[in-house]
Amino acid sequence: MPAPLRLFLASSNPGKLHEYRLLAEDGGARIDLLADFDGFPAYEETAPTFAENAAGKAEHYSRFTNEIVLADDSGLVVPALKGAPGVYSARYAGPNAGDADRVEKVLREMRTFEGEERLAQFVCVTALARRGRAFIITSDSVEGTLTKRPVGSGGFGYDPIFFLPQIGRTYAEASREEKNRLSHRGKAFRKALALLNEPVSLAWLA
Ligand code: IMP
Repeated sequence: MPAPLRLFLASSNPGKLHEYRLLAEDGGARIDLLADFDGFPAYEETAPTFAENAAGKAEHYSRFTNEIVLADDSGLVVPALKGAPGVYSARYAGPNAGDADRVEKVLREMRTFEGEERLAQFVCVTALARRGRAFIITSDSVEGTLTKRPVGSGGFGYDPIFFLPQIGRTYAEASREEKNRLSHRGKAFRKALALLNEPVSLAWLA
């Protein structure tokens, strides 16, 4: 049996790493954190699109290693807030704020919205790069609604306020397996793994 493909995640978000580890196992690959991630010059995610940030991040960190680097840019998109927090999801309540502050800010901004106005999407773009070149970029999303208060204790980020109608619970109440099966990240990453195993990718990597 061939050794599983190894990918190195460019992220300092432990929530993402946990999810990717499980997703990779299911897909016959293996994911580790990029060694010394925090020691490299940081990539500034300043682009206005998820795709540009994901590709830019993967290309940037892949210049410091010979390995395949995986980066994702993801976030919560709320039409009632004109697409916010969107690409600013990670720093929506300022640079020193935590998950609870960001959740509180979104709930505060949503307080006058009811019913369908509370629709929201999670979006994920994954990018795989090697030696400074992105060679796979995939994207997917999932639609849900925003709760009026945080519910559940699992996951990370905006999970406690994202209610997924398919399971009748929030992301934070779902098991990790359940979230991975249905989530924006799970769907986008499964597309990336499928493309990674295509002859064109394997030939380029050889
Ligand atoms: P970035 O992709 O590292 O720029 O950060 C994306 C931000 O979006 C995270 O810090 C979270 O706040 C939010 N986010 C992305 N994916 C998820 C998720 O699966 N659950 C909850 N929040 C998420």
